[in-house]
Amino acid sequence: MSHNFALIGYPVEHSLSPWIHEQFMTKANITGTYSKIEISPQVPFAGVLNRLKEKNLDGFNITFPYKQTIIPFLDELDESAKAVGAVNTVLCREGKWIGYNTDGIGYLRSLENKFPELIKDKEKRILLIGAGGAARAIYHALTEAGCLHIDIANRTREKAEELSSSISPGHLPRTLSMEEAPSLAGNYDLLIQTTSVGMKPDIGRVVFPLNNLKDEAVASDIIYQPLETAFLKQAKAAGAKIHFGHTMLLYQAQYAFEIWTKQRPSTLEMEEQLQQRLEGR
Ligand code: ATR
Repeated sequence: MSHNFALIGYPVEHSLSPWIHEQFMTKANITGTYSKIEISPQVPFAGVLNRLKEKNLDGFNITFPYKQTIIPFLDELDESAKAVGAVNTVLCREGKWIGYNTDGIGYLRSLENKFPELIKDKEKRILLIGAGGAARAIYHALTEAGCLHIDIANRTREKAEELSSSISPGHLPRTLSMEEAPSLAGNYDLLIQTTSVGMKPDIGRVVFPLNNLKDEAVASDIIYQPLETAFLKQAKAAGAKIHFGHTMLLYQAQYAFEIWTKQRPSTLEMEEQLQQRLEGR
């Protein structure tokens, strides 16, 4: 049986998701297609989606700018999508569309793969930088995994407070302003950068300067263009270990594939291949 998957968004031309899912299909011995469906914001979204319902899709990914726009068109929302308030994966089953958000689990898997002790030891102190959609997904996954100490730094303090009050980990999360963050960064075992600061073309920018970090701290950035952001470069110079953003891209796709096919494909060698593809751009 052949499977039909797709990616919906705007723009999607340069997305690496088709490459990732084609690799997964080969590894899982599944025949099928993963096509890109670009919906311009000028086109009525509802019309395109209604036509899509008639297609024989097994599942699709949904990306910028439609992760929230899709919600009214879904029949059910999984717990992750409810908690995050955004959907990036849809399972089409028996005429129903079910929405999921795989970003949080994807991030968690990528981190566990490289730094398992950060998740195993629930007492590790984590600083989440940013309070947007990606931060919400990661915060939810970390709290679900039992992490007890997660503080949030954000440019707009109220958004950090809103996120911290929505889901409470074991302790009362502390919120930090970006001005306070540099002097407190040394308290954390893991710093997770989720804002868009430092993304191409503004590759020289950092969300806040990192100079005083704890021994053995891990700095993680979910940006993957560029792969080594200015944030990661500063963290490395301050003695931290670093965790690259393309790994989250890979594992959120792995979890989406698992939702669609009930198979978890191996990611062996794919991190390096993905890295080469990103660097070759
Ligand atoms: P995503 O879904 O990718 O997380 P988002 O929901 O738009 O995107 O969230 C963007 C995040 O980047 C927010 O935390 C935002 O901070 P605010 O809540 O203050 O807007 C943060 N961000 C964007 N540009 C920033 C900048 N120049 N400096 C600091 N933070 C920034």
